[in-house]
Amino acid sequence: MKKLYIETLGCAMNVRDSEHMIAELNKKEPYTLTQNLEEADLIIINTCSVREKPVSKLFSEIGVFKKKRKEGAKIGVTGCTASHLGKDIIKRAPYVDFVLGARNVSKITEVIEKKHAVEIATDYDESNYVFGEFRSNPYKAMVNISIGCDKQCSFCIVPVTRGEEISIPSNLIVQEVQKAVASGAKEVTLLGQNVNNYGRRFSGSVDGAQNFTELLQEVSKVEGLERIRFTSPHPLHMDDAFLEEFANNPKICKQIHVPLQSGSTELLKRMKRGYTKEWFLDRCNKIREMVPEVAISTDIIVGFPGESDADFEDTMDVLEQVRFDALFSFKYSPRPHTAAAEYPDQVDSAIASERLTRLQSRHREIQKEIMDAQVGKRVAVLFEELKEGGKVAGRSDDGRLVMVQGSEELLGEIKEVAIKSANITVLHGEVL
Ligand code: 5AD
Ligand code: SF4
Repeated sequence: MKKLYIETLGCAMNVRDSEHMIAELNKKEPYTLTQNLEEADLIIINTCSVREKPVSKLFSEIGVFKKKRKEGAKIGVTGCTASHLGKDIIKRAPYVDFVLGARNVSKITEVIEKKHAVEIATDYDESNYVFGEFRSNPYKAMVNISIGCDKQCSFCIVPVTRGEEISIPSNLIVQEVQKAVASGAKEVTLLGQNVNNYGRRFSGSVDGAQNFTELLQEVSKVEGLERIRFTSPHPLHMDDAFLEEFANNPKICKQIHVPLQSGSTELLKRMKRGYTKEWFLDRCNKIREMVPEVAISTDIIVGFPGESDADFEDTMDVLEQVRFDALFSFKYSPRPHTAAAEYPDQVDSAIASERLTRLQSRHREIQKEIMDAQVGKRVAVLFEELKEGGKVAGRSDDGRLVMVQGSEELLGEIKEVAIKSANITVLHGEVL
């Protein structure tokens, strides 16, 4: 059997694209996955281009692939960097056999047959394509609900790499969820660049759900499905109907990612985010009012062009007011083909680093308080993975990592757990 080495960088969308590629390859010919580069027949790096660092690392990494690969092994570069660098990748590294864009993953079986194939069209429509089945976790499934992104956030390269947004018809989504549940999944994560913009455009006319709230209602009807998560929603599209559904649908896990990016209304305008600091706070307050036990996570960029001390204080203020359960924070990185890369008032890198450190250390303090407050609670955990020392790990409804003593009987089960101790990232408990 042929062996496949696949490295996945970036977001959940990329993780799912890798699963799709594995499934498509297996439709034609069985592959086993290997972690050992040297024995692979096919080597794929599924790239991310959201920040600069991973892009510059790409060429040194594929250089290592070339050195270590066995004779005849093929090397492919896929994903977001493949989309925006295209044939330049082969110009710079001629030993790369194929380049496959983030919106062309269904073509994986074609490109491996053609020397120096480059398939990166960002207007390619995969919204009605039914991929083969492969899931890395038997108890949880990821299901795409849309491709591409219609926003024009001035810092973000994704619209360039993944093209315009097209929603997948809800009958196909429900079918995918049913298939996953039939093969053992209890939980599904609905994926899109901008999930709550669902229904803005389909590639033909469709009968089913026309917006994200309706889609959540349809998906939750799937029998045997116990948990629904989704990522990522946009704060702008968090209307009251969506929040009601989030709060009142018992299958929807009470964890929500609300990407802030900046707490300054002025900067949000320059980022073209479409909301203000007040709107963001209002949505978070409303979510907390409706679902007091909710966990809210966010993304923040510091050092965006023009960010003054006062702008950054606005971000710190939102951090204090919302007290996020999890924070993904980044130093602004200018990206090609984005508006903000051309803004004249780029922020000094040392200042941005200082701000990032301050933001992250204050968040860690808050996170410690939040995690300590979990001790003594009872939470429902879906167990997913065996760990060393006779431990089993899973996630609580609100998305926290929970570990208990136990064995494989717990895998795939949802159990009540009493939380006994906590550190900043993990809760330890006992099954009741
Ligand atoms: N620089 C830094 N961070 C970025 N992100 C997106 N583009 C950039 C950029 N140019 C961050 C945003 C986004 C997350 C996935 O990555 O916070 O929500
Ligand atoms: Fe995901 Fe964006 Fe990275 Fe592409 S650029 S892999 S969409 S995070």
